[in-house]
Amino acid sequence: MTAHLLCVDDLGPDGVEAVLKLTDSMVEVGRRDIPKVPALRGRTVVSLFYEDSTRTRLSFETAAKRLSADTMSFSVSTSAVKKGESLRDTVLTIEAMGIDALVVRHASSGVPWQLAAWLAGSGVSVVNAGDGWHEHPTQALLDAYTIRNEHKAGSLEGLRVGIVGDVKHSRVARSNVFCFAMLGASVTLVAPPTLLPASLDGWPCDVAHDLDEVVGELDVCYLLRLQQERMTEALVPSLREYAFSYGLDLARAQRLPAGALVMHPGPINRGVEIAPEVADLPCAVITRQVANGVAVRMAVLFHLLTAPADGEVRLDG
Ligand code: NCD
Repeated sequence: MTAHLLCVDDLGPDGVEAVLKLTDSMVEVGRRDIPKVPALRGRTVVSLFYEDSTRTRLSFETAAKRLSADTMSFSVSTSAVKKGESLRDTVLTIEAMGIDALVVRHASSGVPWQLAAWLAGSGVSVVNAGDGWHEHPTQALLDAYTIRNEHKAGSLEGLRVGIVGDVKHSRVARSNVFCFAMLGASVTLVAPPTLLPASLDGWPCDVAHDLDEVVGELDVCYLLRLQQERMTEALVPSLREYAFSYGLDLARAQRLPAGALVMHPGPINRGVEIAPEVADLPCAVITRQVANGVAVRMAVLFHLLTAPADGEVRLDG
């Protein structure tokens, strides 16, 4: 059966562990003078991005290249989509060229599942790089990896993680809640009621509405961008007021426990969810998240596209 990565649940605890362990080897590859291994030579990885992206797209492409895969990049603005080609026809056209993995980002929730169904039997692995407000599994994996490596606890077990801000429109929040809880963290969503999903049934987390009440107990303060492009109505009174109540300013950051981390998936809006000076503190590991993103995506592509019978990872030769 073809392996896909559509949501964190697809991997399960053992799969998450396997990818995080593999990531260590990929970080080591990244430190070499020539950070490239032949693991996916002859394989083709296509990125199909129907939504804007800087870090996720570049990071998947860099990951594929470091594993020596051939890469193709599909840009909606310069494609036949502009001539009215449907998503299904586009995908089947790309598949006909002989590819191994399709990394997809789309504004509609569920598109990666639809692609996996259309591609059934083709041997093409689908990787979800963000679908609507739904899931963003590789972001969750790179965040979990970053916490393990940057927090002195060395593990998520027992850590208190606050995910602060626009949870309602965030695929990162959903994937992170499930991934962090799976790894033993206790997660609290911190947001005004207008920025929470209508139902949190089945989400393994607590909710708080007052950041000042919880900030002193957070081992990780994970900030989200206000996703204004996804809002159809005014959900916060003003950006200034939002920053005042939910932004991580220096005074709040100083109340975090010793050793706490400040994280953000990017792109950051300095002065809104995070004060400019906080984004540059040593405890803010935002650029390390980006660096780990390449290694995690190498691990994901390797995990999906190679299945060594003995479970051994060979990255030389
Ligand atoms: C996020 C996304 O697009 O889901 N960014 C990312 O992938 N690093 C979050 C955001 O856009 O705010």
